[in-house]
Amino acid sequence: MRDLKPETLLVKAGRPHGPGQPLNTPIVPSSNFVLGEGKVYSREDGTSTWQALEEVVGELEQGQAIAYASGMAAAAAAFEQVPQGGQVVLPSDCYQGVLNLALAGEAQGRWRLLRLATEDTDAWCTAAGHADMLWLETPSNPLLLLADLNTIAATPRAGLLVVDNTFATPLLQRPLTRGADLVLHSATKYIGGHSDLLGGLLVARDPALAERLVLARKLQGATPGMLEAYLAARGVRTLAVRLERAQHNAARLAAFLEAHPQVHEVRYPGLSSHPQHALARQQLDGFGAMLTFLVQGDGATADALCAAVQIINHATSLGSVESTMERRSVYAGAEHLPPNLLRLSVGIEAVEDLEADLAAALQRVSAA
Ligand SMILES: Cc1ncc(COP(=O)(O)O)c(C=O)c1O
Repeated sequence: MRDLKPETLLVKAGRPHGPGQPLNTPIVPSSNFVLGEGKVYSREDGTSTWQALEEVVGELEQGQAIAYASGMAAAAAAFEQVPQGGQVVLPSDCYQGVLNLALAGEAQGRWRLLRLATEDTDAWCTAAGHADMLWLETPSNPLLLLADLNTIAATPRAGLLVVDNTFATPLLQRPLTRGADLVLHSATKYIGGHSDLLGGLLVARDPALAERLVLARKLQGATPGMLEAYLAARGVRTLAVRLERAQHNAARLAAFLEAHPQVHEVRYPGLSSHPQHALARQQLDGFGAMLTFLVQGDGATADALCAAVQIINHATSLGSVESTMERRSVYAGAEHLPPNLLRLSVGIEAVEDLEADLAAALQRVSAA
């Protein structure tokens, strides 16, 4: 199927094919199978429900996908590949859950941790020669920084190159095709797209690595729930249309916020003011639907703005049909962020309503 366009793969892959079979892979709520032929136990053998999700995402990323109970379960499975005492390199900006996982492993003496500025391509290329795992997140959460994937992936390396592709989705960037070893998705975000599930995926380029991951998942049991896998496989069908609309909305809101006198700085890869806009143009097939901005004032002003929006939801997660906004520096591992930094995940509502919501909220906050 790989010669099909991603928008078609999203809809076509991972379905039962034979005549008389359902068009959608059903939820198989069974841990156990009748012994004889084929499957024995779901944790070990998987279920057709997860396998449908794995097939779609594997086709899109052009590797073998392994589904997990959450994005963090997928991240933990990737970190497990680091040999005892090995070196992990993490970017200066990344999802704080992954940072906290890496810090916890470092504190236990499990690995050594090196942090590099996401944009410092030379430093990543040097580290590639000795690190056991390079972890990239591009665009990054929440600062929307980009790592130069082509250059880093083309540099000879000693270990694994893992790319968290949650923000870009497989529609905007396919890191395995550039030479990465593993891609991670929090399926909780754009893949599911409706804030109604937790899920994660790793996608491996090398079948031997995929086999090791599948074995570890069997032994550790970080398997996805049946309903969650079904919802993720259902949600991913509309990823292309959701993302197209959300991206369009994000570009317009980024321009609106950039021109607003109460906003200091807007980070969106599609703005020419983004410090890596040229790289974003070259590396991404679209600029995504995440943006951050600094509201003029302090943390209390940012909180007031979150309380003042009425259509945008004051909520933490991202990548869903509804817009969400929150202050990020409140989380452990994110204290380095400016207190007035807000992250906005732009949804698929009418952009006029979102813009009016932000305009009214900014006015209310300035008048207070
Ligand atoms: C970029 C990124 N990676 C990984 C994760 C972890 O995913 P999950 O919450 O599904 O465990 C998140 C969650 O916010 C994320 O934003």
